[in-house]
Amino acid sequence: MYNFDKEVLRRNTGSLKWDLAKNDVIPMWVADMDFETPEPIVKALKERVEHGIFGYTIADKDYYSSIINWMNKRHGWNIKKEWINFSPGVVPGVNIILRAITHPGDKVILQTPVYYPFFSAVENNGCKIVENPLIYENGTYKMDYEDLEKKLKDNRVKAFVLCNPHNPVGRVWTEEELKTLGELCIKNNVIIISDEIHGDLIYKQYRHIPFASISEELSDNCVTFIAPSKTFNIAGIQAANAIISNIKIRNLYLTQVENLGITRPNIFAIVATAAAYNEGEQWLDELINYLQNNLDYLKQYIRKNIPKIKVINPEGTYLVWLDCSELGLKGKELHRFVKDKARLWLDEGYIFGANGENFERINIACPRSVLVEALSRLERAVSGER
Ligand SMILES: Cc1ncc(COP(=O)(O)O)c(C=O)c1O
Repeated sequence: MYNFDKEVLRRNTGSLKWDLAKNDVIPMWVADMDFETPEPIVKALKERVEHGIFGYTIADKDYYSSIINWMNKRHGWNIKKEWINFSPGVVPGVNIILRAITHPGDKVILQTPVYYPFFSAVENNGCKIVENPLIYENGTYKMDYEDLEKKLKDNRVKAFVLCNPHNPVGRVWTEEELKTLGELCIKNNVIIISDEIHGDLIYKQYRHIPFASISEELSDNCVTFIAPSKTFNIAGIQAANAIISNIKIRNLYLTQVENLGITRPNIFAIVATAAAYNEGEQWLDELINYLQNNLDYLKQYIRKNIPKIKVINPEGTYLVWLDCSELGLKGKELHRFVKDKARLWLDEGYIFGANGENFERINIACPRSVLVEALSRLERAVSGER
């Protein structure tokens, strides 16, 4: 029903992705898709605009039920209305919860390589980052529980930020993995902050397990962030939710929200979220098929034409982590090569932590024609052609 092949011009629309890129560079860095937002969302927003009054807003019944139904239907997770707390984004939410549950000088564990705004969220709150690097083995990543157990023993460690599914390595963590992690954290009184913003973007053979859906015990030691922003390409609308079943943790979170004076949601965020979750399912299913085809194309193309680059197979997300070790370049040098020689703006691997310096991350949520051009540019750059 939907046409994901359509190329929509985004330059000069105030697009972070396109308007900061030089004319001849294809931007494939930030997690923002080049597809039109699903029609039911656009329609609901238009109707709201037509009303013509945009006063202070509250989240209505439809808003909450849309979230509850979506989580239940797509992920088998039963959440209660009172657990849901609006946030203007996941990054602001992670900053707020860290402010709520830590004191300056405390420590927070991150599994590197990882989404880089987590680093600043920890440091913004005067805390120290403790890295629990993922183990990279046989072309995939797994958690290092032995290292984690040692680090959790430090009683200044107060929180663990989980990326589920993981950006940039693309793992969709299994129930077993999450359970082991969750139990270790509970044993050491460390709260888990689970960023599940990519949880709806899962490839066919895999299943997203919301961390807090595993058991009441894990749920009560966790704050989960969900959002329609990546799923439906509405990041500019700034809508997310913190799901918190533990009332003590929820109150700590809400006190900070109150202190910052950001208790009122954006009117368009409320409308877009409800429309997305109530009416966006067919679009999402079609999107996932399209992304799967883009991913298959990328894997085949690179295997055949750029074998020095190894694709880390993502189980979820439209972000693909590319191991460029065999190119003999790393860090800034690698990034400069990709930008100047291939004229592609990817995300540089080293910003995800030191163990990312041989990597680049590519966003494949674009029309196939754009991906085809990008890969051909990369091939020509690696083979030394212009
Ligand atoms: C793991 C992860 N968390 C959060 C965000 C951004 O969230 P928001 O725009 O809601 O702050 C992104 C965007 O790329 C992301 O990949």
